[in-house]
Amino acid sequence: MRVLIVGCGYVGLEAGRQWVARGAHVEGVRRSPDGAEDLKDAGLSLRVGDVTCREDVLAWPGDWDVVVNAVSSSRGGIDVYRRVYGEGTEHLLAWMAGGRVGRYVHLSSTSVYGQVDGGWVEESSPTEPASETSRLLVTTEQRLIEAHGSSGLPVSVLRVAGIYGPGRGHQLQQLLRGEARIQGDGRRWVNMVHRDDVAAAIRIVSESRSAGRIYNVVDDEPVAQGDFVTWLAKEYGLPLPPVATEEENAARKRGLTHKRVRNTRLRSETSWQPAYPTFREGYRRGADTPLAPTGQTVKANTG
Ligand SMILES: NC(=O)c1ccc[n+]([C@@H]2O[C@H](COP(=O)([O-])OP(=O)(O)OC[C@H]3O[C@@H](n4cnc5c(N)ncnc54)[C@H](OP(=O)(O)O)[C@@H]3O)[C@@H](O)[C@H]2O)c1
Repeated sequence: MRVLIVGCGYVGLEAGRQWVARGAHVEGVRRSPDGAEDLKDAGLSLRVGDVTCREDVLAWPGDWDVVVNAVSSSRGGIDVYRRVYGEGTEHLLAWMAGGRVGRYVHLSSTSVYGQVDGGWVEESSPTEPASETSRLLVTTEQRLIEAHGSSGLPVSVLRVAGIYGPGRGHQLQQLLRGEARIQGDGRRWVNMVHRDDVAAAIRIVSESRSAGRIYNVVDDEPVAQGDFVTWLAKEYGLPLPPVATEEENAARKRGLTHKRVRNTRLRSETSWQPAYPTFREGYRRGADTPLAPTGQTVKANTG
C-alpha cells in the first residue's frame, strides 16, 4: 500500500501515522524540510514540494494507491486560496492524469454551507456561502466532481468541521488566556470533529467502494457556542467567560454561519464511527486533551 499525503500537517500526519501502523508506505509533502523529524517519528518520509508549483507536482512519481490533499491555506486570504485550492488542484489533476492513482481524497470544509437559520445541513444541502474563500472551496469541489464524471477521477471529497485535538482547540486556548466570550446570545451552533476522527475518515473513505461522493466529517453533536464555553470552563475549573460586548460581536459577525452539520452519510455508507462522538469525550480533562500540561496552564490563567 503506497500513500502520498500532500499537505502533511496536523491532520495529514495523523492519517499517515494510522496508515503506517497498518503497514503502508507513506510519504508526506510539505514546502520545507523543517518538519522532517515529525514525519520520521511517525514513520513517514518527507517529500519537499509545493502544490502551487506545477513543475514540483509533475515531477512526483505517479503510482499511488491513495493520494490525499490536506494542504491548508496557512491562514491566508483569497489569493492564497486561489493558488492552493484552485491552481494546486489543477496541478494535481494534470499529474494524476499521467499516473495511476487508486483514490484521491480531497479535504474541503463545512464552511461551504453558508446557512444561517440554525437548521440541519447534509451533503445535498445548498452550498452558497457568503465568503469568497468558502466559495472557492465550493468551486474546487465542483471541479473535482466534474472530473469524476467526465474522466473517472476516483475522488472522494471530505467536508471537514472545526478540527480540535492535542495541541489544538481554539475556544479552550482562548478560555485559558481569559479571552473567551459568550458570543451574541450564545446560541450559535458550533460543529467540531477530533483530529483522530478526521484521520480515520480519510483512511476509511479511501477504501470505500464508490468514488465521486462527498462526505461531511463532523462529530455527532453540534453544540451552542455559549453552552460549549460554559462546559469547558466547568471542566477545567475556570471562571465562566463573560458575554461579548456589542463591539466584539460586531467584529465577529461578518461571514458567521449558524447551522448543524449531519454526519449520517459518512456513518451509514462507511464503517466510520467517531472515537470522540462529542466534544465532551474529546475535551475531557486528561492527558490526551488539548490542554497540556493541564495544571500549569490553568494556574497561569487564573493568576
Ligand atoms: N483546521 C480546521 O479546523 C479545518 C476545518 C475544515 C477543513 N480543514 C481542512 O483540513 C485540511 C488539513 O488541515 P490541517 O489543520 O491539518 O492544516 P495544517 O496543519 O495547516 O497542515 C497543512 C499542511 O500543508 C502544508 N502546505 C501548506 N501549503 C502547502 C503547499 N503550497 N504545498 C505543499 N504543502 C503545503 C503545510 O506545511 P508547510 O507549511 O511546511 O508547507 C502543512 O504541513 C486542510 O485542507 C484544511 O483546509 C481544516
